[in-house]
Amino acid sequence: MGRDLKRGHFSRTRDLAVFNKKFSPNILEKTIASRFKVHQKISVLEIGCGEGRVLMQLRKIFPDIELHGINKKPWGAMRGTSSLKATGTYHRIFTPSEIKTIKLPIIHFANANRLDFKDNCFDLIYSQVAIQYVDRKDQLLEEVWRALKPGGKAFLDIDARTEDVPDCLDFVSPRFIIYKDNKIYPLRRFIKDVYNRGFDIIYKRLIKKESGKTKSRITMIITKNNNRKLDLSLKFDELSSFDLGVLNPEKNKWSVYWGYRSVYRL
Ligand SMILES: C[S@@+](CC[C@H](N)C(=O)[O-])C[C@H]1O[C@@H](n2cnc3c(N)ncnc32)[C@H](O)[C@@H]1O
Repeated sequence: MGRDLKRGHFSRTRDLAVFNKKFSPNILEKTIASRFKVHQKISVLEIGCGEGRVLMQLRKIFPDIELHGINKKPWGAMRGTSSLKATGTYHRIFTPSEIKTIKLPIIHFANANRLDFKDNCFDLIYSQVAIQYVDRKDQLLEEVWRALKPGGKAFLDIDARTEDVPDCLDFVSPRFIIYKDNKIYPLRRFIKDVYNRGFDIIYKRLIKKESGKTKSRITMIITKNNNRKLDLSLKFDELSSFDLGVLNPEKNKWSVYWGYRSVYRL
């Protein structure tokens, strides 16, 4: 079982408004609404859904769509699909009587570097503060592409950094690092190369000042504009990749040492 964080812990209960701020106003709601023009049956997946607060907010707005969430492993406040009832009432999304009547989203426990879903099955895939923890970010992106329906969209929060970081994290994307000929090959440039091969994947970097410090966040917006297989051809560097949690044995420096440092060679 994962770290036993209590229900309502900020790190596992970010809401829809916080998600949309990373992209644009009402982006998830608008995407779902526009997919109804193409398909009658809409399927949505959240990668690293924590307590499932966003899933339950979407359930409130869209009572009948198919909703799925993935977490790596269970903990006290998230033991699976039935835990979503407590999430829904704790955050006052549903009343105790309403919660008995809704169709609960489905929770899966797995490493999201492999998505155990058929090809072309989701209209929308989204994720916030979770991909940073995934070891094989290359496989995750390839899987998201595979699992999206043609024309489907993914809004992925990929990595974040602050100004003050130790030298081992002093990269634009400290948890997604690519080298070519032993020199850093910027993730931005890599994604542009993929885009130029015909795959509609857009890299974005948002920079903001908070308490006098610069914080930056990298997101990707994917639109499945063709049905070719996405093969990123990144070679995983096992020697240089590791869970940053090992640098924080006393578990008191989560502001810095969190997530999984994934290193690749081109
Ligand atoms: C910091 S929490 C964020 C939860 C939620 N998205 C939020 O913003 O409140 C990270 C989440 O990612 C999930 N996670 C971490 N590594 C994962 C992996 N390899 N595959 C799937 N989920 C993972 C955890 O189970 C956890 O729910």
